[in-house]
Amino acid sequence: MAEDVLLMEEKNGVVQLTLNRPAVMNAFNFEMLRALAGAIETLRFRSDVRVVIITGAGEKAFCAGADLKERAGLSPVQVKEFIFTIRNLFTTIEDLNKPVIAAVNGIALGGGTELALACDIRLAAASASMGLTETRLAIIPGAGGTQRLPRLVGRGKAKELIFTGKRVSAEDALAIGLVNQVCAPEALLDACQAMAAEICETGPIAIAQAKYAINRGLETDLHTGLAIESNAYWLTIPTKDRLEGLAAFREKRKPVYKGE
Ligand code: COA
Repeated sequence: MAEDVLLMEEKNGVVQLTLNRPAVMNAFNFEMLRALAGAIETLRFRSDVRVVIITGAGEKAFCAGADLKERAGLSPVQVKEFIFTIRNLFTTIEDLNKPVIAAVNGIALGGGTELALACDIRLAAASASMGLTETRLAIIPGAGGTQRLPRLVGRGKAKELIFTGKRVSAEDALAIGLVNQVCAPEALLDACQAMAAEICETGPIAIAQAKYAINRGLETDLHTGLAIESNAYWLTIPTKDRLEGLAAFREKRKPVYKGE
């Protein structure tokens, strides 16, 4: 039987999804797109899952973007279907009601960098290299790269990276704010798990609302953003978790949040 193109492991409320096509540097074919979409859809309704980590199998690559071997055999309509599917998938990841951490364990090109951009937080191995290299193939980033990269690193740097199609090292990615942290390759997953564990100490409804307020608020003017924040805050007020937080503070103990 063929190996699963997506591996899923879970421990202590943290799910790790591993893109598992190492022979092609974890490039996305239709099968892997559908597998990831299915997993994300399921995780949305898993209240026991607090954080998702996405990484790539093997030591060389996080994800080398679209599977260019599959692409060569696709008709123009099928290419459109691929781009439509991958763009919507990455938006679904961005909109997931829980934090998603990209563990960029190696090469992340094209759709690989676009996947990392759709995640909330990016940690990279020192050996990683990232880039939106599509223009070198006479196409453009089609899974959100032209939109998310300038929003993250500013339009000047984004244009430089997209127009040249060049790759940046993990250290350079850190310097321009493309990644949050750089780790020794062997320490990357532990660092992601440590961050996930810290997130697990917080209130689930609070995290979902904070993510919503940040994502939606950044796309609008300040006053509308503040109104979004206000509505998001109001949703936390009637929760049992909010009262638990206050009780735990009073009783000098760790709170136990249930997402209620
Ligand atoms: N699609 C399909 N196969 C890919 C791939 C992709 N995007 N990226 C790498 N592979 C395959 C290679 O064809 C090779 O398979 P082979 O041994 O059967 O020939 C294998 O992965 C290893 O890649 P290789 O090129 O030998 O390794 P490298 O270290 O010399 O270079 C890359 C790695 C990622 C820099 C290079 O493969 C590359 O440029 N890939 C294309 C990346 C890209 O442009 N992505 C954007 C797509 S829109």
